[in-house]
Amino acid sequence: MKNLLKTLGILLVTGGVVALVATSVSGQDASFRRLMGENMNHLQKIMVSMVNSQYEGVPADVRVIAQHAQDLTQRIPSHVRGPEARNRFLAYANNLGSVSNNLVVVVEELLRHDQTQQNPGQMNIDYLRVAAASHLGEMITTCVACHNQFRR
Ligand code: HEC
Repeated sequence: MKNLLKTLGILLVTGGVVALVATSVSGQDASFRRLMGENMNHLQKIMVSMVNSQYEGVPADVRVIAQHAQDLTQRIPSHVRGPEARNRFLAYANNLGSVSNNLVVVVEELLRHDQTQQNPGQMNIDYLRVAAASHLGEMITTCVACHNQFRR
């Protein structure tokens, strides 16, 4: 019984050490995933706001994703190997950045436009909303395209 407990104790300690090493090795992965989790949260907020035609908070959320896109160019995951793959990863990261910046420009224009709107009820013919929605679609396409190739 005593031996059994001792063996169990050793197993537990070994397990703990292995777990700790594993955590520190994947520390970079963990912060990369946190960044991605934030992308997802902000994307959801943007989508809900835009579908509800409430654009005020949208630029701030998009700017976080734009900043993350820039961060991604400095944080190519270690499993993305070779110059060709790295360049493709960078291309997606840069595309996410430029589409985010375009979305901010359109939404800010839309907010200005809404302050001086002649016919507030006529949202369905508002080209700025359509342009913003199209940029959002492009943003989601970029997330998906990069994941297709680089998520393990
Ligand atoms: C330049 C490439 C790239 C772009 C662009 C990108 N991602 Fe990712 N994303 C990744 C990679 C690589 C992983 C996998 C990370 C891993 O498993 O270690 C990932 C993982 C994720 C995850 C899972 C995180 C987890 O906990 O495992 C989410 C959520 C996510 N991305 C959301 C998004 C959203 C939303 C966007 C667009 C706004 C986006 N990503 C754009 C490369 C990208």
